[in-house]
Amino acid sequence: MITSDMAGSDKKTIFVTGGAGFIGSALVRQLVLETSATVVNIDKLTYAGNLASLVSVAESERYHFEQCDICDREAISRVFRDYRPDAIVHLAAESHVDRSIDGPGSFIHTNIHGTYVLLEQALTYWKTLDDAKKAAFRFHHVSTDEVYGSLGDIGAFTETTSYEPNSPYSASKAASDHLVRAWHQTYGLPVLLSNCSNNYGPYQHPEKLIPTIISNAINGQPIPIYGKGDNVRDWLFVDDHAHALRSILAKGKVGEKYNVGGHNEFSNMQVVGLVCDLLDELLPQSEYNPHASLIEFVTDRPGHDKRYAIDAGKIKAELNWSPSETFESGLRATVQWYLENPEWHASWSKKGFDSQRLGLRQ
Ligand code: NAD
Ligand code: TYD
Repeated sequence: MITSDMAGSDKKTIFVTGGAGFIGSALVRQLVLETSATVVNIDKLTYAGNLASLVSVAESERYHFEQCDICDREAISRVFRDYRPDAIVHLAAESHVDRSIDGPGSFIHTNIHGTYVLLEQALTYWKTLDDAKKAAFRFHHVSTDEVYGSLGDIGAFTETTSYEPNSPYSASKAASDHLVRAWHQTYGLPVLLSNCSNNYGPYQHPEKLIPTIISNAINGQPIPIYGKGDNVRDWLFVDDHAHALRSILAKGKVGEKYNVGGHNEFSNMQVVGLVCDLLDELLPQSEYNPHASLIEFVTDRPGHDKRYAIDAGKIKAELNWSPSETFESGLRATVQWYLENPEWHASWSKKGFDSQRLGLRQ
């Protein structure tokens, strides 16, 4: 369905970096299927990229795929010349905290240096535009609430919370946020920045918590819970995040940042309990019922942030965005999707993903 309500995307050419990833692919699907934008997906296809998430749009005339590394200045310069975009939504990143503990180098390279390369190429291109196009151009950097660090039992991150990143992943994202801000303040590049809480939904990489729980539970494997399982995350359904990104792109104020969250704070134990209850209900004949009996407490993640919570008041008040899914409805849809799409996990096994424990480097 094509709608004309997305003032920021209709008839425009939009670059989405990291469009073969979890959130990027949700955004690409929405832009191609629900707007008349032309979308150029710029993705290196690292271990985390998977074009299977884009089958529904792959044949569209308004969808283009460019297999490029965002750190490759020549390649990025070429795609700017070839497509002359109206906006860029930058999601390409190394995204998994546990991997950043074992090997921070690729996080520093892609998340910091890659963002620098993109900013420089965007700036060079932006300077060639006429005044109207210059004013309309946007560089939207997609970031995480993890840049703010860890909360105690009360309170929530606002857009003015100071940055205190604790993992190599969050530190690299914090650095990239600062670069984006600086390219606006110093060179006038029209940027937008958003910091979002933990996403869940269809097409997520199996290394992340919720796909791990589902896959291990249905296969009778232990469900690993780091530490005591009392760490709290604020969960947002991925399509709600993609809608928020579209709202920010269309209506966000240049140079501003927006926190995006689901108002869904749950401890990891609560999340596992809810997923196991859904599996008990949806798979009543399973030999592994009750699935919660598969829970196994394992060594905690070093530097494990205790609690994240987002105050999403600004994006609600200024852009009228709020999530559509409750955690109950989104989680049910998610579990059902993984049960109906067993080939998703199988495709990662074929790529060599073996679900070994990561992130214990001292
Ligand atoms: P993901 O790991 O699923 O996807 C990342 C994508 O980026 C992959 O397709 C990968 O191939 C691509 N990529 C990696 N390095 C690249 C490079 N050098 N050049 C080009 N492409 C490259 O990640 P995700 O969960 O979809 O997260 C997307 C973005 O959103 C990231 O910037 C992340 O920091 C941010 N974010 C994620 C969450 C979350 O809960 N997943 C929450 C808030 C913000
Ligand atoms: P994750 O999905 O890796 O996201 P993030 O660390 O960016 O928040 O993990 C979410 C939470 O679940 C986090 O507190 C770590 C925990 N966790 C487990 O307990 N077991 C697991 O197997 C995984 C992958 C994560």
